[in-house]
Amino acid sequence: YWRGRNAAELAYTDPAGLPALRAAISHYLRAYRGVLCEPDQVVVVGGTQAGIDITARVLLEAGETVWVEDPGYGACQKALLGADARLAPVPVDEDGIQVEAGEQLAPDARLAFVAPAHQYPTGAVMSLERRLALLDWARRAAAWVLEDDYDGEFRYGRPPISTLHALDQGKRVIYLGTLSKVLAPALRVGYLIVPHDLHETFAAMKAATDRQMPIGEQAVAAEFIASGRLAAHVRRLRTLYGRRREALRAALSSHLGELLDIQDSGAGLHFMARFASTLPADTAIAREAQRRGLGVRALSTSSPLKRQLQGLIIGFANVPQERA
Ligand SMILES: Cc1ncc(COP(=O)(O)O)c(C=O)c1O
Repeated sequence: YWRGRNAAELAYTDPAGLPALRAAISHYLRAYRGVLCEPDQVVVVGGTQAGIDITARVLLEAGETVWVEDPGYGACQKALLGADARLAPVPVDEDGIQVEAGEQLAPDARLAFVAPAHQYPTGAVMSLERRLALLDWARRAAAWVLEDDYDGEFRYGRPPISTLHALDQGKRVIYLGTLSKVLAPALRVGYLIVPHDLHETFAAMKAATDRQMPIGEQAVAAEFIASGRLAAHVRRLRTLYGRRREALRAALSSHLGELLDIQDSGAGLHFMARFASTLPADTAIAREAQRRGLGVRALSTSSPLKRQLQGLIIGFANVPQERA
């Protein structure tokens, strides 16, 4: 690969990302996620984690408040704290973040971080009503919404819901996607979609933090996406993971049905199970499951914030049907 590159390609290039990759991402998002964006709104970043960090640095002054989902994604909370944000934990129910509670707890927040396609760890898919309420709050409060489209590609027999980005009339949404779940987390390739008038500022922040993404990863990702192979791969995964989900759910209901209350929204790569009766600490159960090669985590350790819930986060993508 390197031998075939000319000097200009190996020099410092646009910190917002390789033009071919930005074009491929904008085309993919239009076609498969209903996110209408131009290549010059894309900023290629090192996964969701880096995208949160850059967004917080661009949009927030030190000490400003961010709504985070409770329970929520701990790694996101750490990135926000690292950018000197103040976190306001807002409760999540089966419809997603409770916007009214957020308005009461922290009406002055500048940003809300949400994963509406499949919330971590509860697995809730944000309802259309909540999506509209969140966008309405953002418009009234002149606040931003950072949409983590986590697991957005994975639905099983449920109709798709528009992304916040697609519903947003007030241009308050920053969209964040990643190749971590559709390809591999170690690739560290993600993308922000930002409004035109903020693109230069985001690109400058990218340059100030780590200059630009490595060219090799970007070129390979561009080719993989533009050739249609990513979309085909996702289609295959959806069928495979759908079967694995059903097999694991059936096995859990028949063996542990009395003990676990499974909350499955028909999306993503995991479901949450609360304890229907008294069981040993979730950390002990998760440790034992991990020892046996299962993708199980303790709910109590998922969110370092307020709510201490006992239960399990059960991944099904890595459990072949015959092992369920
Ligand atoms: C809510 C959420 N968003 C995004 C990601 C992906 O993060 P990254 O793109 O940094 O690998 C994860 C990983 O588990 C997650 O739980």
